[in-house]
Amino acid sequence: VNVDLVIHNIGELVTLAGPRRARAGEEMGDIGILKSAAVAVTEGEVVETGPSKRILRDYQGERSIDAGGRIVMPGFVDCHTHLVHGGSRENELAMRMAGKSYLEILEAGGGIHSTVAATRKANEKSLARRARRNLDLALAHGTTCMEIKSGYGLEPDTELKILRVAVDLDEDHPIDIVTTFLGPHTIPQDMDREEYLAWCAGPGLQAADELAEYVDIFVEDGAYTLDEAQVFLEAAKARGFGLKVHGGQFNDLGAAGLAAELGAVSVDHLEEVSDGQIAAMAEAGTIGVMLPGAAYFLFTDYPDARRMIAGGMALALGTDFNPGSSPTLSMPLMTSMAVLQLKMSPEEAICAATINAAYACGRGEYLGSLEKGKAADLIILEAERAAQIPYYFGTNLVSTVVKDGEILLGGEYE
Ligand code: NIG
Ligand code: FE
Repeated sequence: VNVDLVIHNIGELVTLAGPRRARAGEEMGDIGILKSAAVAVTEGEVVETGPSKRILRDYQGERSIDAGGRIVMPGFVDCHTHLVHGGSRENELAMRMAGKSYLEILEAGGGIHSTVAATRKANEKSLARRARRNLDLALAHGTTCMEIKSGYGLEPDTELKILRVAVDLDEDHPIDIVTTFLGPHTIPQDMDREEYLAWCAGPGLQAADELAEYVDIFVEDGAYTLDEAQVFLEAAKARGFGLKVHGGQFNDLGAAGLAAELGAVSVDHLEEVSDGQIAAMAEAGTIGVMLPGAAYFLFTDYPDARRMIAGGMALALGTDFNPGSSPTLSMPLMTSMAVLQLKMSPEEAICAATINAAYACGRGEYLGSLEKGKAADLIILEAERAAQIPYYFGTNLVSTVVKDGEILLGGEYE
């Protein structure tokens, strides 16, 4: 059979083949590794995976790549970022090293507010230019799908400007983009709290309708309360948005339980969460998104991933890329932190960074695993075994990136 592309002589092909849903609890440890394998691709989709010998016998690739025993896995899905923003905040790192806390800086009008000022000032063109450069960096680290939130406007025009930039990036850049309206990211300094939340839950949702698939809200001391979250999330749900919540980053205000009750797709952060809410999330199928970059950068406790997996939850991983709490675009580094700090196994970390992350942003049906009919979004890494991805921390092992069957980076080996 003639196909567009055959990648063969793969040391370990990490397929993530399995049920068509996020993998929960023990299932996260099974990532469907095939040894001495190959993958056949046509029209942007996976045709078949299997033993290298058999695939080479059955398929004739118009192009072929000899992977030389390297590993191949699905492209990373970064299911939580604040990619579109102005400015940077390395000055706050210095303040925090001198003893000020993240929430103190925020309350004093710095933190998110300083990024809000920079983002309001920037025009769409300059925001897009910066975001595109960062998407290129993410792609080079193996990310082929990314969720992007608004939230650095905190006023109508800028919130919608961010979403428009993110939507346009989906056209302009090979990385698939999923957009989320995070109007209620924190309390604006120049608008009444109730008035702004009323805009978010009413006209804001209406305007975001064609720009975003998901909504999100930051439930935290100094940001929004549980009651405010309920109002906003119920309004969003009634309009057909998928729901996400920033919950339990510093304090457990009960956001995870509320999110589970409302059928949210994910609760993100969860450094602080009670057993009862873990049970509710497991029962509801609400995914826990681990953002170890933020805990690393803000010196908070890491989320207790073992307790959540033992409780039957599905976990995903994201970078949380943003200028204040996690300025990294590296999903491979997140798998390292997941193993070394969250005590996840390498397999669980890879599952969290691919198929579960895809489900956490509504793309699991088509992305996140290498199975017949799914997207040929895959990467080749300078490693022989999947467990080496978290092991070689801080070094980018990604040497080839294929998106929808097209070789975007690399593809040539000696
Ligand atoms: O996910 N926690 C709230 N939002 C971001 C941080 C935003 C910022 O500091 O600019 C987060 O960690
Ligand atoms: Fe975030």
